[in-house]
Amino acid sequence: MRVAIIGQGYVGLTIAVGAAGAGHSIIGFDVNEGLVAALNAGTSHIEGVLDTELAAFIASGAYKASTEPVVIDGCDVIVIAVPTPLDDVRNPDLSYVHAAADLIAKNVKSPALIVNESTSYPGTLRNEIARRITAVDHLYASSPERVDPGNTEWGTKNTPRLIGGLTPAAVTKAKEFYATFCDTIFEVSSPEVAEAAKIFENTFRQVNIALVNEFAQIADALGISGREVLDAAATKPYGFMEFNPGPGVGGHCIPVDPSYLAHVANQVGVPATFIKRANEVNLAMPAYVVKRVVAGSGGSIKGKAVVVVGVSYKSNVADTRETPAAAVIDLLREQGATVAWHDDLVGNWRGESSAAIKGADIAVLVTKHDGLDLAALKSCGYVFDCTGTIAGADGI
Ligand SMILES: NC(=O)c1ccc[n+]([C@@H]2O[C@H](COP(=O)([O-])OP(=O)(O)OC[C@H]3O[C@@H](n4cnc5c(N)ncnc54)[C@H](O)[C@@H]3O)[C@@H](O)[C@H]2O)c1
Repeated sequence: MRVAIIGQGYVGLTIAVGAAGAGHSIIGFDVNEGLVAALNAGTSHIEGVLDTELAAFIASGAYKASTEPVVIDGCDVIVIAVPTPLDDVRNPDLSYVHAAADLIAKNVKSPALIVNESTSYPGTLRNEIARRITAVDHLYASSPERVDPGNTEWGTKNTPRLIGGLTPAAVTKAKEFYATFCDTIFEVSSPEVAEAAKIFENTFRQVNIALVNEFAQIADALGISGREVLDAAATKPYGFMEFNPGPGVGGHCIPVDPSYLAHVANQVGVPATFIKRANEVNLAMPAYVVKRVVAGSGGSIKGKAVVVVGVSYKSNVADTRETPAAAVIDLLREQGATVAWHDDLVGNWRGESSAAIKGADIAVLVTKHDGLDLAALKSCGYVFDCTGTIAGADGI
């Protein structure tokens, strides 16, 4: 099939190479000219897609990136994979989804299957996409992406794919397309069910992470190791699932998607109290980390050299979106410390460059990538570990 994928970020590029590998002809459409030029030169910007893989698809003609809206006309399938962030007051910002729908409305004259993979609340495909595209009779399906960047066990092929369509014909066509590169397709009765399943999955993680974050604080106040308690609880073979405490939540999904569910919940008169409380707990974790660092450093960090180690939001990825490291650094600076950060994968961030670990008075390990220089970390006067991986270190 001829396939256009709108948005060539983590999701769009991952799907592009998955579908190209299944023999489809892919146009990767994006508004970012620099990104499109880099992709066409065979340079991938995400961990899960190798430059060599991308270059091979370009060479065979299976993939081409473009900023030209006209190239999406005439495709059999058009996939929307654009950002769905929160606005300044933490409400859903659907402006990118609307822009993608308007792009299709303006440029696509021949009927196609239109699939939304962007994460959003139930009703988005029907009300925010299909309703904006009236001139052509397209098929519409929702298939929320579940990709976990950096996860080498679960990828596009073996992660079951949800599909819900506005019509049976849309479901049939979507199944035909995704079955070419996904092992398991799970059909649901409507796009709203697929959309809600995705945001509920991430809400489940958000709430459980908040629960262990709160528990970590209770355990510390009780003078016991929260992580030891969690490991002990996890020996129960049924009815328990282990989550790990940390400095907060980051990335495009866990800090954001639950607020999409809370938004529609409020609209239908059901207060999403778990989501609200979980947000409060997770957003307060950087302040808790800094409070513990100050207490562990004798009550003041004024004038001390602090290095925050690992600023991406999770191990072995360079993604700094919504990373709790930002708030940890800002709050350490408010305490009068001189703060640098170190991250081999990130390199440059917020106008600053990655600095050396060695020589700092205090090291705060926020995210641990493989290959971290443990000797340098341990050479710092005081180490606070948010990852639970440095034996003997203070931490959560
Ligand atoms: N990153 C993840 O782990 C992940 C996992 C599952 C689902 N999602 C969801 O998938 C969607 C996309 O996320 P992502 O991580 O790929 O985002 P991203 O920021 O990595 O990529 C989005 C891309 O869309 C482009 N873009 C923005 N507006 C556009 C437009 N009007 N037309 C064409 N391109 C446009 C941007 O330039 C960018 O390259 C979001 O809804 C997100 O919640 C993300």
